[in-house]
Amino acid sequence: MRTSKPQDARRIDTLIERMSLTEKLGQLTMMAASHTVTGPVITGHSSDDIRSGRIGNLLNLIGATAAREMQRIAVEESRLGIPLLIGLDVIHGHRTLFPAPLGEVALFDPQAWALTAREAAREAAADGINMTFAPMLDVSREPRWGRTIEGPGESPWVGRRLAEAKVRGFQGADLAAADSIASVAKHFCGYGAVTAGREYASVDVSDRTLLEVHVPPFAAAVDADVAAVMPSFTDLAGIPMTAHAGMLRGRLRRELGFEGVLVSDYNAIAELIKHGVAADLVEAATLALRAGVDIDMVSGAYLEGLPVALERGDVSIAEIDEAVRRVLALKMRLGLFENPYGRGATAENASAIAGRRRLARDIAARSIVLLSNRDEALPLAGAIRRLALIGPLADEPGEMRGPWWCAAEPEAQTGVLAGLRSALPQAQVLHAAGVGIAGPDESGIAAAAELCDGAEAVVLCLGEAATMSGEAASRAHPGLPGRQRELAEAVLRRAGAKAIPVVAVLFSGRPLIVPWLAEQASALLAAWFPGCEAGGALADILTGCTSPSGRTPITWPRAIGQIPLYFGQRSSGRPIDPAGPFASRYIDESNEPLFPFGHGLTFGRFNLSGLRVTPESARAADSVEVRVDVENRGGRRAEETVFLFTRRLKSRVAPPLLELHGVGKIALDPGAHGTLTLHLPVAELRSLGLDLQPQLEPGAIEILVGPSADPAALLAGRLQIVE
Ligand code: NOJ
Repeated sequence: MRTSKPQDARRIDTLIERMSLTEKLGQLTMMAASHTVTGPVITGHSSDDIRSGRIGNLLNLIGATAAREMQRIAVEESRLGIPLLIGLDVIHGHRTLFPAPLGEVALFDPQAWALTAREAAREAAADGINMTFAPMLDVSREPRWGRTIEGPGESPWVGRRLAEAKVRGFQGADLAAADSIASVAKHFCGYGAVTAGREYASVDVSDRTLLEVHVPPFAAAVDADVAAVMPSFTDLAGIPMTAHAGMLRGRLRRELGFEGVLVSDYNAIAELIKHGVAADLVEAATLALRAGVDIDMVSGAYLEGLPVALERGDVSIAEIDEAVRRVLALKMRLGLFENPYGRGATAENASAIAGRRRLARDIAARSIVLLSNRDEALPLAGAIRRLALIGPLADEPGEMRGPWWCAAEPEAQTGVLAGLRSALPQAQVLHAAGVGIAGPDESGIAAAAELCDGAEAVVLCLGEAATMSGEAASRAHPGLPGRQRELAEAVLRRAGAKAIPVVAVLFSGRPLIVPWLAEQASALLAAWFPGCEAGGALADILTGCTSPSGRTPITWPRAIGQIPLYFGQRSSGRPIDPAGPFASRYIDESNEPLFPFGHGLTFGRFNLSGLRVTPESARAADSVEVRVDVENRGGRRAEETVFLFTRRLKSRVAPPLLELHGVGKIALDPGAHGTLTLHLPVAELRSLGLDLQPQLEPGAIEILVGPSADPAALLAGRLQIVE
């Protein structure tokens, strides 16, 4: 965070001089209101505690009136009149829900990522919120882990771009503006690597992996001037992040230069006791403060423990003041002292809300990934008269919200049934759920399958309930839950017997492991959780109003045993060789993913050619242009996405097979062609040497460009790095 202006710094010092210990600890405490529940302990807050200065910050308060009233008590009735931070998990929209993060990431469009964050900030700020616990930047190569849905997917490069875009979107050009909110980059660091994908489990990654994969998105957030960072619940090689002075004070503050606020995760300071590193709240509070955590979210450890720790000499008043200073600086930066009621002062107008819904539909349509499309089963024929819409997610508007829904009411969401009926007024859309999302009841399968008779196409909506991903939602069997496979097989049999195409749509927070479905369905779509305009967006894709352009931001495994599976793996000394037995492979499963990173079809048919790298030899300060010609040989206008990967041919540290360095998009009419230019700053090609320091090694680098990480589809060029 930018250092405070001198007059702010003086004002902060004066305030600190006047503060009692309780008032200081109040500034370091954030308690939860009960308007929404995001953790296991509900501490509640009382207005009296705000009045007395014991509580200086709140979370989970929804509604402008409530926020204003709490702010009023803090500003007008507490002794020092210090305004509150009011935080909420505004993850992918506040009242208007955009697609869940992984779905948005599938757009590979930083401008769109920034735009949805901006709109979410406007809505949240209109409700008196001034801080969001977002973006989540944990790189995940682990579909079992439920929180994969909340983050950037498997690529640290994507994580960096996402960090910059989201921080820019939430915080706007001026954090003090009434429609800007403070962004909290979370969860620092390595949470995505929880052992076996099990939520909250220990993380034990090498320093190299930490620095190559998990830290870079946070470094980008810090460079984008993120206001706050949240340490993860997990431990890193035995040291809980909430008490990890080396990571928080060392790496984050000293090395990355982060000067903002560190806010603990929900109850995480007290949980240091369960981790086994603290005996009681006093020790827990001591460890967290000493590690650099400024705000205690809901555990009460700072309020209870720090007075004792201070008395014992385990912490100093200077350490407490340092944390208070940072919190007050953020409140100033947010403009809260000048204008505590700025956020929440004006209700949103109807046209802004309607515009946001249009944006939500557009973004949701672009987040949908067309994984397969045999015999051009999609788009559906324009003149379709009878469509069977089957499956437990076909008419579940509330589930379309995904695992974080903030202030979005279930009634405000559009499900698939409503979306298709409105998009196809001439058609009869017959509907049956067939089975529940989970549970053993198969009694509805036969009747649902009968809907196939006489239908011209079947749309089968399968997947997870919203709560099957997100926090505390790891799955050891990340396939279709309940009896959905039985339903799908019955439908595929019945429709297959009459050659009726079956389009399967997956709603999920992770790549679901469904190779059998990919093999049998005429078309397969990954819709993630599309948000409030799910029905309209899906109808846009199914009917061909919009050509699909989403790309999977995570490699899609074909078997659980392949996990973790990602494009950035290293070669090994014995890479796969179909002819030889001693190779890095499974004896009972292929090494290939079901769908590679970046995969996604369109309604066009693109051909890439003529890769040019200029100049062909470059130094650290140069920027290289990578050009490729793209032609749409299909019959429909569509947007192609092109990925720029590199591969270092030789390095002292075994290089990953592919490293992502850029993404470009081009929309072309049928028969049209164009040229895409991607810019590659050579400094980006630095890697971590034997000593873990960034270095640019001279030598040849392969430039690989294509529609996904599938090596077979990549065009190859060369770049020579010279000193
Ligand atoms: C716990 C989650 O880990 C975190 O991401 C969230 O911001 C907090 N709860 C607050 O709801």
